[in-house]
Amino acid sequence: MILVFGSVNIDLVARVAAIPRPGETVLAGGYETLHGGKGANQAVAAARASLPGRVTLAARVGTDGFGAAALKNLKANGVDVAQVATGPEPTGCAFITVDERAENAITVASGANGALDRSAVAPGALDAHTTAVLQMEVPFGESLAVARLVRAAGGRVIWNFAPVPAGFTAAAQNDLLAATDILVVNEHEATAAAALLGDDGLDFRAAGERLARAGDLTCIVTAGAEGAFVFHADGRRETAAAPPIRPVDTTGAGDTFVGILASGLDEGLPLRVALTRACRGASLACLAAGAQPGMPTRAVLDE
Ligand code: RIB
Ligand code: NA
Repeated sequence: MILVFGSVNIDLVARVAAIPRPGETVLAGGYETLHGGKGANQAVAAARASLPGRVTLAARVGTDGFGAAALKNLKANGVDVAQVATGPEPTGCAFITVDERAENAITVASGANGALDRSAVAPGALDAHTTAVLQMEVPFGESLAVARLVRAAGGRVIWNFAPVPAGFTAAAQNDLLAATDILVVNEHEATAAAALLGDDGLDFRAAGERLARAGDLTCIVTAGAEGAFVFHADGRRETAAAPPIRPVDTTGAGDTFVGILASGLDEGLPLRVALTRACRGASLACLAAGAQPGMPTRAVLDE
């Protein structure tokens, strides 16, 4: 079973010619209201890629209209929401601008996500077959507690270290690495995390290798069009290519990768195969605007 512990947001998305700089105002034609939040996105990506009934989300939404809409969307995608608690208001909201080159800038107002705690995970829900999926949009101490519980139950922890919080300490990062089996980062996150270990200015490959050794874990660096790079603690490396595409919106590509990776591993696929599937899915997700609309179904992934 896949347990995602993380954020649920509604995304308000405006498309602009260029993302505004500090002090600047730009006009957009309009905006879209879409489903998002790294936790919800990863749960939906995993559920679409999996056989029915494999994915549970432990999260918090407000009792407002956004929260009700988010719950309805999760259910429609086959995500079990029995462990989604409600309140306080508001539901998390992300303010997203996407430019002509499909790059984005995101501000997340955490709302209910900020009150998520470990008690959302039902006692007895964890066992040796649990694959837990964590990110960095809910309180870190609570995610860490869940990771440790999953490990204690014999399960596996996939931690997407995104976004890297401002002021995150080396001690906290060491705790995170120690509770993680598979760390997933993009190039910037890899470099930032290695810097926190005391190694400034490493390229993402050296950073990935450093993180794998430091945490005695498998570190996967997602590198956009270049695909994904895997660094094992023993120094072995693997890579998977991303099919070439012309991206429309890269928002949620990382979440799609993480969700499909979790789905493949939950199904018992070898890492190589799960990785290739995740890279393909992440590329496909970039072909549609918004985080979730382009996430492939199992049928599309198996084509
Ligand atoms: O990773 C993409 C997500 O980050 C968006 O859906 C937005 O909600 C932010 O949390
Ligand atoms: Na997209």
